[in-house]
Amino acid sequence: MENSEEKEGGQGERATGEIKALDKELASHPSLLSDGLKGTVAGQHHGRSHKDQLNNNTSTTTSTMTLDAWYMDESDADPRLPHRLEPTQPVSPDQLRQIGVFHWKLNADLYEDDPELDQIRREQGYSYSDVITVKPDTLPNYEEKLKMFFAEHLHLDDEIRYILDGHAYFDVRSECDRWIRIALRKGDLITLPAGIYHRFTVDETNYTKAMRLFVGEPVWKAYNRPADNFEKRQKYLASLQSA
Ligand SMILES: [Fe+2]
Repeated sequence: MENSEEKEGGQGERATGEIKALDKELASHPSLLSDGLKGTVAGQHHGRSHKDQLNNNTSTTTSTMTLDAWYMDESDADPRLPHRLEPTQPVSPDQLRQIGVFHWKLNADLYEDDPELDQIRREQGYSYSDVITVKPDTLPNYEEKLKMFFAEHLHLDDEIRYILDGHAYFDVRSECDRWIRIALRKGDLITLPAGIYHRFTVDETNYTKAMRLFVGEPVWKAYNRPADNFEKRQKYLASLQSA
């Protein structure tokens, strides 16, 4: 769910966080279609690394209990299909935490005024947010955009998404470089650590509405694999060894 220039290797942009500036960015990058833009940047950068979260997670709301995840098959059929193995090979919440993936389950109907969400944002330092919608009738070149979202990539910052409506899949690489598919539904807030290879798609319903959160001013730049030389990637790999 990044913009096309970023995915195609262009220069990443730093949004100012001001509504005006973000509107300009949205206008030039239709993949960032927004309905209910919240654009806010405030507070301090105090987000924690996934290792810190693993060792010292103080939030009472953290949960991966309801998250459905599984190892994917090798099929090159439509990415929007579930791609489960037969029999299915589930991935546990602990396994996800070990690779730095964290999850909360919230009431998305309350997202505009939710004390629980506010608490998570305070604890994690998620000072920026906006809302995007991915569906065919609002996203020009929808199929092409989906292909772009599905290219394996990493970021130099955590990727944080809160599903407000619809469905989505995030695929992340396991320690052994296998694809793990994480099914996200309304109310799922997920964080992927900087440096993890991953990709995104909607499911067969072709619709998701999500809040994007960020620590400080957002940087949407994505680096397609191979991107192993980045320090953040190396730090992430080192964190897997010590987790
Ligand atoms: Fe990403």
